[in-house]
Amino acid sequence: MRKPVIAANWKMYKTPAQAQEFLQAFLPLVANHKRDEILLFPSYVDLSVAIAATKGSNVSVGAQNMHYAEEGAYTGEISPSMIKALGATHVLLGHSERREYFGETDEIINKKLHAALHHGLTPVLCMGETLEERDAGKTEEVLLRHCQEALKGVVPHAAESFIIAYEPIWAIGTGKTATPEIAGLAHFHIRTQVAHLLGRQTADRIRILYGGSVKPENACALLNQPEVDGALVGGASLDPQSFAKIVKY
Ligand code: PGA
Repeated sequence: MRKPVIAANWKMYKTPAQAQEFLQAFLPLVANHKRDEILLFPSYVDLSVAIAATKGSNVSVGAQNMHYAEEGAYTGEISPSMIKALGATHVLLGHSERREYFGETDEIINKKLHAALHHGLTPVLCMGETLEERDAGKTEEVLLRHCQEALKGVVPHAAESFIIAYEPIWAIGTGKTATPEIAGLAHFHIRTQVAHLLGRQTADRIRILYGGSVKPENACALLNQPEVDGALVGGASLDPQSFAKIVKY
């Protein structure tokens, strides 16, 4: 059985004080919740506050990105060991906003994936197609390419712990959600590819989350799809009540 994961991606929102305020309201709302793993991806500057506030709770904290190098002359970047030293356990990799606005390629994401695994950080690897690719019937091909490129050189046992997030780009922040059937089918394609690349056992263990306009109103239908193992939530995770409702779908 795959334990579902409900993750919040705060993107470039919230100061440390606002992160603290969120957690004061949110943690009591989910304190006894055991069915799902709960993850929070705040901005780098909020990591310390979030890690301190969630200590001993059922919420884990990760970074939204990182560099793949150990250290070096990379102004403005953050290394895996810096994130690890703060006490973060997870890292989001390859979010479509990183790919689109910051030029991240599958090759870079693959390097980051190896660095995360090397440092014992659990990667949440994001992938998904654009509207043009979907309309051209290329969704399966795009997901195959993301899997092949991002997972290059990864060994099956290292991959079992990690998480994939299917985030169709046309559904992110647009209010347009994939139907449960569209999400279920895309997850099935991803799992099939992972089985092909890393074996059936690994594919059966990897959690695949859906992301793209998940809200309290649509969470239940999406999360009840057998292939959907959780959600990566942007906008609707910024409010403690709304995110708690999604956690408790
Ligand atoms: P959204 O973002 O829920 O606001 O669509 C999801 C994401 O980008 O992870």
